[in-house]
Amino acid sequence: MTDLPPPLNDGHPPLMLSKSARKKKMKQERYAEKKAMRKSAEKERKKRDLERRRREWDEKLAGISEEERLILLNERKMARKERMAMKMDEKEEKVGRLMKAREEGGQKVVVDMEFGELMEKNEIHSLVHQIMYCYAVNGRCSSPVHLWLTGCTGEIETQLQKIPGYDKWIIEKENRSYIEALQDKKENLVYLTADADVVLDELNPKDIYIIGGLVDRNRWKGITMKKSQEQGIKSARLPIGTYLKMSSSQVLTVNQVMEIVLKFIETKDWKTAFFQVIPQRKITEADAENVDSAAVEVDYVDDEEEEEEEVEGKVRKKKKKEI
Ligand SMILES: C[S@@+](CC[C@H](N)C(=O)[O-])C[C@H]1O[C@@H](n2cnc3c(N)ncnc32)[C@H](O)[C@@H]1O
Repeated sequence: MTDLPPPLNDGHPPLMLSKSARKKKMKQERYAEKKAMRKSAEKERKKRDLERRRREWDEKLAGISEEERLILLNERKMARKERMAMKMDEKEEKVGRLMKAREEGGQKVVVDMEFGELMEKNEIHSLVHQIMYCYAVNGRCSSPVHLWLTGCTGEIETQLQKIPGYDKWIIEKENRSYIEALQDKKENLVYLTADADVVLDELNPKDIYIIGGLVDRNRWKGITMKKSQEQGIKSARLPIGTYLKMSSSQVLTVNQVMEIVLKFIETKDWKTAFFQVIPQRKITEADAENVDSAAVEVDYVDDEEEEEEEVEGKVRKKKKKEI
C-alpha cells in the first residue's frame, strides 16, 4: 500500500467547525433527512400501487363469467411466460457478450478495490452499489469491457459477496492487487486519475485502464496519482476540459468513469460520452463568448451524495433479481 497523505481533517472531527464546514454539515444532514423521507414516501406509494392493482384485478374477476375468467387467467399466464422467455433471451445474449469480452480480448478495465481502509462503512456500501451499476451497464453494452475487480479483501469483499448473483458475475475477481495479478503487463497499466498530466486521447486496446475504487468525497485528494507514481505505472486523465468547462473539480465517480469508457468504446467520441454520462444538472450553458460552442460548464457538486442516490435508485430496481 502506498504512503497515504493525511486526510483533510486528519481522521478526527475538528473541535470547532469552520463556518463553511458547518454549512456543509448542515447541508448533508438536510440531504440525508430528505433522502429518508423520499425513500419512505416511495415505499408507501409502491405499496398502495400494488394494493390498488390487486383490488382492480379481483374486481375484474368477480364481475365476469367462469368462462371469461379462465380466458383472462390463461392470457395472463401466457403474457408472463412470454416476458420470462424474453428475459432469458436477453440474459443469454448478455452472457455471450461478456464471455466474448473475456475470451477474445475485450478492453481490460480494472477497478482497484484496495482502498477499503480509507472509507467509512457507508462509503464502501456506496462503492459496492457503483460496482453493481458498472456491471449492469457493462452487460448491456454491445461491446462490453473485460472487467477486473482487484484487491478485494475485508469489508469490501464481504459486501461484494452479499450482492445477489455475484458468484456468477462474468468478471475477474481478485484478492490480489492489480500490480501482482497483472505483473507481466505492468507496462500496459494506465491509472485513470483526474490529477494526471497526460490527457487520454484514445483507448489503446492493449492497455489496461485502472479506476480507483474510492468514494471519498475528495477527502483523499491525489491518492491515485501518488499510487501510480510510486508503482511506476502510467497515468492519464479523461479529456473533460476539452469539451466541458468545469466550475471546479473534474473528479467523477467510479460508475461515471466506467460509463464514459463504455460510451467512448461504442461511439469513439468523447463529447458524446461526456454529455450522455455526466448528469444534466451539472451542466450549464457556458458564456458563449469565452467558450467554444461545444464546451459547457459543469457545476461540480463537491459531495458524491447525489450520484450515490442516483446509483442506488437504479440498482435497487434490480436488487431482488440477479444483476
Ligand atoms: C471518486 S474518484 C476518487 C478520487 C480520489 N481522491 C483519487 O485521488 O482518485 C474515483 C476514481 O474515478 C477515476 N476518475 C475520476 N475522475 C477522473 C478523471 N477526470 N479522469 C480520470 N479518471 C478519473 C479515478 O480512477 C478515481 O480514482
